Amino acid sequence: MTRHLLRDDDLTAAEQGEILDLAVALKKDRWKLKPLEGPQTVAVIFDKSSTRTRVSFAVGIADLGGSPLIISTANSQLGGKETPSDTARVLERQVAAIVWRTYAQAGLEEMARGTTVPVVNALSDDFHPCQLLADLLTIREHKGELRGLTLAFFGDGRSNMAHSYMLAGVTAGMHVRVSSPESYAPREDVVADADRRAAETGGSLTLFTDPNEAAAGADVIVTDTWVSMGKEEEKLARLRDLSQYKVTNELMSLARPDAIFIHCLPADRGYEVDAEVIDGPQSVVWDEAENRLHAQKALLVWLLRQS
Ligand code: CP
Ligand code: NVA
Repeated sequence: MTRHLLRDDDLTAAEQGEILDLAVALKKDRWKLKPLEGPQTVAVIFDKSSTRTRVSFAVGIADLGGSPLIISTANSQLGGKETPSDTARVLERQVAAIVWRTYAQAGLEEMARGTTVPVVNALSDDFHPCQLLADLLTIREHKGELRGLTLAFFGDGRSNMAHSYMLAGVTAGMHVRVSSPESYAPREDVVADADRRAAETGGSLTLFTDPNEAAAGADVIVTDTWVSMGKEEEKLARLRDLSQYKVTNELMSLARPDAIFIHCLPADRGYEVDAEVIDGPQSVVWDEAENRLHAQKALLVWLLRQS
């Protein structure tokens, strides 16, 4: 059966672990597996801007022996002119997998329903599961086991990143804290899904409005831009509403002394995080950015093995 990765809880805890193990092996031996040799093509479609996702998929697909086909929606028939399912039916006759960065999660779901090849969410308004595989790989590298660690996210609790930390974090058996103003609290249905998954894995999800409480004793401190792509018109209100949730050295000092700082990037220094934190000794953001490559290669290998 064709498997897709549209949201983080599409993977069970065991499957997430398998992909992370494979990512470790591929990082050690970058050209070990070439499942796309032929070469087969993977379509990577962007409705929104990208640096890390574009580069890491293009390089990763080439590492696997395949050929990346990078498509900007603005220059394609997708995005108003053709439906996701018609696009999928055209692409599946020619490519091994479809990777898509878009706005609505519903579009990804329609794409996946309409095709026999794996569809990967390369960021939607709701989730960023590829980023989470890289983040979990990075945390594992720096902390060993994921299970039982406490990860605290600060800022927009309704963002794609917050939702993905919730679902992927509890899947890994972590204790996830999300600290945001009440009006930016995570979506209730995602909270319910995370709680259900946490009950199976021994992880947990706790919501905080007080950032100091959320940071206390955490192993991993995380934030993301306050102005996600598509939210630019709300910029002024967001800078005002989220200003108490900035990651500063003071906030970091409440976490464990060996806590690490991660951020999916791009970052707005001085807004969601101070430069002295993101450029400081506890920050592992460059390892995290590199790990996009290894984690996504593992994901593609794993998805292609299932079909
Ligand atoms: N973190 C991330 O997805 O970066 P890009 O927007 O540059 O792809
Ligand atoms: N939340 C951010 C993540 C960027 C990688 C956004 O959607 O713009």
